[in-house]
Amino acid sequence: MAESYRVAILGATGAVGTELLTLLEERSFPLASLKLLASARSVGHTLPFKGEALPVEAVDKKTFDEVDIVLASAGGYTSKEWVPQAVAAGAVVIDNSSAFRMDPTVPLVVPEVNPHAAASHRGIIANPNCTTILMAVAIYPLHQVQPIRRIVAATYQSASGAGAKAMEEVKVQAQAILNGQEPITNIFPYPLAFNLFPHNSKLNEQGYCEEEMKMVNESRKILGSPDLRVTATCVRVPVLRAHSEAINLEFDQPFSPVKAREILRQAPGVKVVEDWQANYFPMPIDASGQDDVLVGRIRQDISHPCGLELWLSGDQIRKGAALNAVQIAELLIEKNWVKPAVAMAN
Ligand code: A2P
Repeated sequence: MAESYRVAILGATGAVGTELLTLLEERSFPLASLKLLASARSVGHTLPFKGEALPVEAVDKKTFDEVDIVLASAGGYTSKEWVPQAVAAGAVVIDNSSAFRMDPTVPLVVPEVNPHAAASHRGIIANPNCTTILMAVAIYPLHQVQPIRRIVAATYQSASGAGAKAMEEVKVQAQAILNGQEPITNIFPYPLAFNLFPHNSKLNEQGYCEEEMKMVNESRKILGSPDLRVTATCVRVPVLRAHSEAINLEFDQPFSPVKAREILRQAPGVKVVEDWQANYFPMPIDASGQDDVLVGRIRQDISHPCGLELWLSGDQIRKGAALNAVQIAELLIEKNWVKPAVAMAN
């Protein structure tokens, strides 16, 4: 008889949380029970799941007593508070926040890239940053064939990366502007509708924002290449859902675009979208709601003999967050890694 698991979603009412719910239903995840957790503000609300209305609960000390797997997506602050308690109660946590990603004892996993890393978990597995996941899925198949030496990335990040309230804010701003009114900003520091701005996460002394440094450090950890040279410019754009990225890769030897295209056509989680005649390439509206990362405009970098250019769009809420987390949970189940490694060793 197949095993089933007691699952909790922490942050169930958020943009990623509601997508987690959809994915568990869509993928017939083997559930013994499902707890929906959010802040005290959401108590009394319900969320639809398999034709039922499931109640949203607030988190307390006893919440994780009867839970095998926690899918956490309620921000770093909430994760820091509750994830250690969930692990102490015996659950495995797949955490979508940045709280534990760079902890050397915590695996940072993209199942298409480094599934083996999950084996060593001690109760927490970190889900990488959305832009990093999308990039890793697209470049790893090439990196396997010929190691990448340097990555130069520019991102075009949708409002969904800042959560459900941010998506709503852009819609309201757009309506206000079209009605000749001043747009109101609450979540974002500046109006995003009909505008764009460099990612507003904290800047370091070198002038890089946190989001850019996530791409640098997390890519190195996921690809297992601590010396990989990576630089990024992250930009928020007035797109509701799905991020796009322009990526320049440098290798030791030339990498032909024809060969790269062939490799990416076979790659898991990637869909090559290119119609050169029609000038049709990946776009956020096509990537939204899709599991695959759409990759196109694969071309030789004319400024460098060993350079390759590509362009991608991927659903940040899905593969960039919720889908990657559910795939990690499925991997743990498939490999029988659901119990923490330390507990299994006892
Ligand atoms: P709530 O809806 O009750 O505020 P998003 O990333 O879309 O903004 O969603 C954030 C998610 O994290 C929401 O489900 C939100 O619940 C949840 N959340 C925020 N703060 C807490 C907290 N202190 N405890 C539990 N869940 C929280």
